[in-house]
Amino acid sequence: MKTRILGKDLEVSAVGLGCMGMTHASGAPADVREMTNLLAQAVDMGYTMFDTAECYTGVNLDGSTAYNEELVGQALKPYRRKVVLATKYGVQHKGDHLEMDSRPETIRKSVEGSLKKLQTDHIDLYYQHRIDPKVAPEEVAGTMSELIKEGKILHWGISEVDEEYLRRVHTVCPVTAIQNRLSMMYRDYEKLFPVLEELQVGFVAFSPLANGFLTACYRDTSQFEQSPADYRGSMPQFTKEGVEQNEDLLALIQARAKEKDATPAQISLAWMMAKRPYIVPIPGSRKLSRLKENLGAADVELTKEEVSQIDNALEHMTMSRVFGGHK
Ligand SMILES: NC(=O)c1ccc[n+]([C@@H]2O[C@H](COP(=O)([O-])OP(=O)(O)OC[C@H]3O[C@@H](n4cnc5c(N)ncnc54)[C@H](OP(=O)(O)O)[C@@H]3O)[C@@H](O)[C@H]2O)c1
Repeated sequence: MKTRILGKDLEVSAVGLGCMGMTHASGAPADVREMTNLLAQAVDMGYTMFDTAECYTGVNLDGSTAYNEELVGQALKPYRRKVVLATKYGVQHKGDHLEMDSRPETIRKSVEGSLKKLQTDHIDLYYQHRIDPKVAPEEVAGTMSELIKEGKILHWGISEVDEEYLRRVHTVCPVTAIQNRLSMMYRDYEKLFPVLEELQVGFVAFSPLANGFLTACYRDTSQFEQSPADYRGSMPQFTKEGVEQNEDLLALIQARAKEKDATPAQISLAWMMAKRPYIVPIPGSRKLSRLKENLGAADVELTKEEVSQIDNALEHMTMSRVFGGHK
């Protein structure tokens, strides 16, 4: 399996596995035994970075809470030394909105909870899930610095970060990776590339398939679970109008896939990996065949010229809005 380096020295599989959808945002939580097998198979096939978060919870049929960290921790326990566990703190789902809390005392509580659920004595990569405007960046970085000294975390990162915040925290406690949205439908954070290079910070790309849309498998959203627990049904890219507006985009990806003897998902991931060597997409899936397919994207090579042709086409085509904002 090809690997990539995040920050100065964190080696991870070139494609990581996003575990969120196993319990959260993709309908009712998946069967624990099935997901446990799937995670073991993911390790076998070469995934070494697994992405979870404190707040990726769901509600089981019996009303109990499905904790993503618990599932991931239990399933990966036999492989602990081989894998990079990445989790996040600082966000709670409150009804239909997110609440940010990165006060030192909250982070301390969160890290203990995550260590317990993950059944480990250290977290390899610990992200601030969202910026908390009520807490100074330097104070958050100070807490991360303490946790690193105490050996509870090995590296830290920030999700949905901007340049100013990244620069401020990085001077207090160097950041290993950011985790921001990046896909052919959302390219705004490409503007951070020069800063990431200057500071030697990696880019973990979340929702790299635009929540699955770029795989060209979902023109009809009726296949999603019709419940508020499946966020995809209400995402703009999957609506009837969205799909119509995105026909050129899907045609572009499908044409490139044919040329490269690859799948649309692989082209979508290979496109971002070809941009910079420190970009690591973390597509999520509950299905073995898709895990294999997505990991295979690391072997699909796009030249600089092919990437700029795609970028040029993306910049000039009509596209729908995408969940998380259109940029
Ligand atoms: N930091 C943050 O704020 C943040 C936000 C969102 C997500 N994330 C992380 O990023 C990870 C991925 O993001 P995401 O789940 O939002 O979006 P994504 O990876 O772009 O898309 C996931 C969806 O695509 C489908 N899919 C995956 N591979 C496929 C393939 N080869 N062919 C067809 N369908 C495929 C999956 O369905 P099936 O399960 O049916 O295959 C799933 O519904 C999450 O698991 C999470 O760890 C982080």
